[in-house]
Amino acid sequence: MIGSAAACLLTGGLQAATVTISCGAVGAERQLCEEGVAAWSEKTGNDVQVVSTPNSATERLSLYQQLLAAQSGDVDIFQIDVVWPGMLARHMIDLAPHMDGAESKHFEALLRNNTVDGRLVAMPWFTDAGVLYYRKDLLEQYDQPVPKTWEQLTESAEAVMKAQREAGNDKFWGFVWQGRAYEGLTCDALEWVASHNGGTIVNADGDVTIDNPQAIEALERASGWVDTISPRAVLNYTEEEARGVFQSGNALFMRNWPYAWSLAQSDDSPVKGKVGVVALPKGGEGGRHAGTLGGWQLAVSKYSENPDLAADLVRYLTSYEEQKRRAIEGSYNPTLPELYQDEDVLAAVPFFGELFETFKNGVPRPSSVTGENYGRVSNAFFNSVHDVLSGEAEPEEALGSLERDLRRLGRRGW
Ligand code: GLC
Repeated sequence: MIGSAAACLLTGGLQAATVTISCGAVGAERQLCEEGVAAWSEKTGNDVQVVSTPNSATERLSLYQQLLAAQSGDVDIFQIDVVWPGMLARHMIDLAPHMDGAESKHFEALLRNNTVDGRLVAMPWFTDAGVLYYRKDLLEQYDQPVPKTWEQLTESAEAVMKAQREAGNDKFWGFVWQGRAYEGLTCDALEWVASHNGGTIVNADGDVTIDNPQAIEALERASGWVDTISPRAVLNYTEEEARGVFQSGNALFMRNWPYAWSLAQSDDSPVKGKVGVVALPKGGEGGRHAGTLGGWQLAVSKYSENPDLAADLVRYLTSYEEQKRRAIEGSYNPTLPELYQDEDVLAAVPFFGELFETFKNGVPRPSSVTGENYGRVSNAFFNSVHDVLSGEAEPEEALGSLERDLRRLGRRGW
């Protein structure tokens, strides 16, 4: 906090103000956000208040929707998910006039994603793609390959889990991931389906495609993991629960986002130095590596009383220096392609270089094509998948009825 007299001096007489930003708090996210805004605060003499939000993207979205529907000016800057621009665009200002062209340096696909009806409703902050974490030491010890297919992953997980259990480690599991009925499960399940060439739920033309044999096969495979290589509790895991098990040394494989890397490598981590990161496995020989495209943007609310100042903070937080700091300290993927060639960044997070294609070509969820309806589409998908995983429905019937529901929803066009 800087007193108002001092702030006046710093801003050359302009009235200093307080800007409120809503940041995520998954892993080290909140701390990194606070450090970033403190630097801007120091530079400009304005105060910033950081409010945290629920970790689950699904819960965060409903909180935001309530605030925005009430046209509340309480939050100036919203950290919004890559799948939300279509749903929240009407509440956000056009940032393009505030960026002095800085936006053009970011990944083009993200700018396209964040542009709704010709308005840049959010600036890319960090991008994400699902990746596979594995225990290098254990694969070596048991002479197992780094898996390239889901079949190999399943086999190695079974073998290593059996050996670890026999050695007395009764908490050890083969594979942890995000199985709770929320947005994270949409991401994981889209990877299973897309890696089997089963499409992306709704295709780019707006046709519902989810009821197909490859998608059914993918869900059959995943439901076979529950209670065998994955604990039943995975049905209630988000990112952080999965990380908790993996980072404490109790799992061979983990599906997660890149943020888990810097935490797994921290000094107090039991798995420090023992972890590798690769692209997620293919669904069989004809399949492909598929990591869901995730990531977060910064948007300024139309109801903000200080939109110019808020946009200035967004510009600072999305800048090269700040994205570089967040990449090095928290393994948050930059949205500036240039930073993937930065030596300091690559030294801190080697897989940013190795998996550049995975990050550049992440599999998008069908949010652009379904627009305002994306939330409903995703909810229907993760609920159906959750029913299958928990043994309440068979993949074939679940995807058949999901397809009918989604067709009804998109009947008059999305
Ligand atoms: C990560 C991704 C985001 C996704 C969420 C799901 O935060 O960046 O895009 O929706 O996980 O849990």
